[in-house]
Formats: sequence, structure tokens, C-alpha cells
Amino acid sequence: MERMEHTTTNKEFNQALTPGKPGKPVKPAETLLSIEDLHVSFHTYAGEVRAVRGVTYSVEQGGSLAVVGESGCGKTVTVQTVMGLTPIPPGYIKGGKVIFNGQDLLQLSEKQMQSIRGKDMGMIFQDPMTGLNPTMTVGRQIAETVQRHQNVSRGEAMERAVEMLSLVEIPNPRVRANQYPHQFSGGMRQRAMIAMALACEPLLLIADEPTTSLDVTIQSQILDLLQNLQERLGMTILLISHNLGVVARLSKSIVVMYAGKVVETGSSSDIFYNAAHPYTRALLRSVPRMDREIRGELASIPGTPPDLFQPPEGCAFAPRCKYAMKVCTKCDAQPIKLGDNHYVSCWLHHEANPNNPFENKSENGGRNSD
Ligand SMILES: Nc1ncnc2c1ncn2[C@@H]1O[C@H](COP(=O)(O)OP(=O)(O)O)[C@@H](O)[C@H]1O
Ligand code: SF4
Ligand SMILES: [Mg+2]
Repeated sequence: MERMEHTTTNKEFNQALTPGKPGKPVKPAETLLSIEDLHVSFHTYAGEVRAVRGVTYSVEQGGSLAVVGESGCGKTVTVQTVMGLTPIPPGYIKGGKVIFNGQDLLQLSEKQMQSIRGKDMGMIFQDPMTGLNPTMTVGRQIAETVQRHQNVSRGEAMERAVEMLSLVEIPNPRVRANQYPHQFSGGMRQRAMIAMALACEPLLLIADEPTTSLDVTIQSQILDLLQNLQERLGMTILLISHNLGVVARLSKSIVVMYAGKVVETGSSSDIFYNAAHPYTRALLRSVPRMDREIRGELASIPGTPPDLFQPPEGCAFAPRCKYAMKVCTKCDAQPIKLGDNHYVSCWLHHEANPNNPFENKSENGGRNSD
């Protein structure tokens, strides 16, 4: 995937911004979102699906965090729970906290969550049609979001909608505002979704696989747009993707999830150059590296993730891990600190293990080949 040049002009950004935006009061240099030991399950006929099993991660204000992991590892259920969108039943929250801007969202009523969704937290999904109403013009939908959360007239809200469409680089935004979602291409719909999510200047933008349904060129353009918005607006982004390649350019910190748990966290350089969990290293081998010549074939990770009806007692990656030891199948490793913000949950890194194959991690030049 080749990196595209930014096409947004500063003028468009500046027009869409008023001084201090996005400027809702938030205590400076604080953690904006903190997910603490979250457990979410689903009751099904076949039994309990333990989708999220003690997930902890946080996003700093103005930061960009990516959550990566193979499909089905609990990325979406975690952020759906943050947004108060987990279907209950069949879902239920077994424990944990979601502290957002100082308050525990799990203690709020649906009515209180409604006022936070859209206003303080915006969300974009893999399929933009999930978030767009096919029976209403795109401009009207954005305007309604603005009117729901801000005390502005219908005309002012519509003006804001046009500004937002221009911000996300939709050509002829005034004309486009009066069109329906089906008149937009896939990429344009995703831009419209981003415009809607940003219309009320949310403190946090959650982007769940925002480019997965798009072709590679459009993917790249949408990632550029998000990166541009992040840099220009100082926006806080929580990006979710099954593809480490997608998050490389946008996210300063990365959380790797496997089978409902966090297995490694670190800065993007920790993850890309000093990955410490065998799963992270396998994920890295399965995506094209944009910064190096690729030699040989990309490897898919052998085996499949475990059944979340009966997750294993020990490390869930053990059946697929060539380093698995006896202890791995008996109990799960707790997070081990490797650097400032670099943590891994893997027995290989326990101080009592004399044979850590990744000890001199930089020796391989960051290639992360085992
Ligand atoms: N409504 C639901 N009912 C039952 N199981 C669900 C439901 N939603 C999600 N799951 C299960 O929860 C697990 C995690 O799903 P999800 O968070 O969507 O994965 P990811 O986003 O990482 O691909 C999966 O095993 C999925 O089948
Ligand atoms: S804990 Fe054991 S099985 Fe799990 S990733 Fe580490 S070495 Fe492999
Ligand atoms: Mg998902």
C-alpha cells in the first residue's frame, strides 16, 4: 500500500475550525479513556461465549491507540461496551470499569449514554451503511446529529454539515449534502461517516476497521484523511484493525489482543521492532512491511484461535506457539514490564526462564523473525 500525498488544504481545515476546537473541557494530559479488567460474555444456546476476558488498556487525551488482533478476539465487543452498544441480552458485563473523562460509563443509564454517544464519543464502523440512514440526505443526517447535541438552528446545523463534508474532502460539499447515501461511492460514504462522527467535536473518535471494506487505494486515502485530522485537530483516536499494516502510520501506541485478552502493549516502535509475544511476531509476519523490501512469502498464522465457549486455562496461544512450555498450558502469564510502556503476557519473558529466545531483541535488526 503506497502512501498518498495529503490533499486537504489548510484553508478547508481552518474554515471548519473555530479557535480552540476540539475544545470541550478535559483535564490536561490525562487519560481520556481507561478500560480496566473488563469482562464481557454472551449467553447463547450452546453456552457462555467469553468474548472479553479481563481487558485493560487506556487512551491518553490527544493520543492515538490501535487495537489489533485476528478476527473474533474481542476488539469490537470491547469498544461496543465502551459505547454502551453491547446487546444486553444476550451480552452481559461480568465485571470491570470503563472510565471516560473521569466517569465510569458502566454505571450510567442508557439515557446518559445517549448524550455521550455522538457528542463526546464518535464512532465509525467497517460498513458505513451501518451508521448512515438510507432514507435521509447525508447533509440532513449530519445536521440532525449536530442539533441533537448542540443548541443551534436547523439552518446553522446544515451549514455545519456542509463544513464537515468539506473537512473530510468531499468535493462539492453543498451539492453532496443534499444527496442520499446510495449516491455516494464506498469511500465517500466512509468520509461522510467520519464527518458525522466529528460533527460534534467528540473528545474521542473510535474507528472500528474503518477501511476493511474499501479497496486498497481508497483505504490509503481514508487513512491519510484520519492521520491528517488527527494531526491537525489533535484528535484522540482509538483505531481497531485486524491488520497491523493499517495501524502502522496512524497509531503511536498499540494493544495486541488474542482470544479476549491483551497479550502485548507498547509504542508502535516496541511492537514493530521489538515485539515480544510470539503471537505479535506471527501477526507481523502475516502483513506486508511498508518500510522494507519483502523477501519470501507472507506467512499466515498456522492453526486457529481457541473456542471462546471454553477458553484454555493457560495461555490461549499455546496450541499455536512453537515456544510453548509446560507452564503455558497450566496458567496464564501476567503482564511483564519490558520497557516504559511495553508489557507482554508470556512466560518466555519471566525472570525465572533462562531460555528467552527474544532476549537480544534488537539483534535481528527489528526484523522480528524467529
Ligand atoms: N451478539 C453476540 N452473540 C454471541 N456471540 C457474540 C456476539 N457478538 C460477538 N460475539 C462473539 O464474541 C467474540 C468476539 O467478537 P468481536 O469482538 O466481534 O471480535 P473482533 O472484533 O475482534 O473480530 C467472537 O467469538 C464473537 O463470535
Ligand atoms: S506463554 Fe507460552 S504458549 Fe503463550 S505465547 Fe508465551 S511461550 Fe507461547
Ligand atoms: Mg470487529
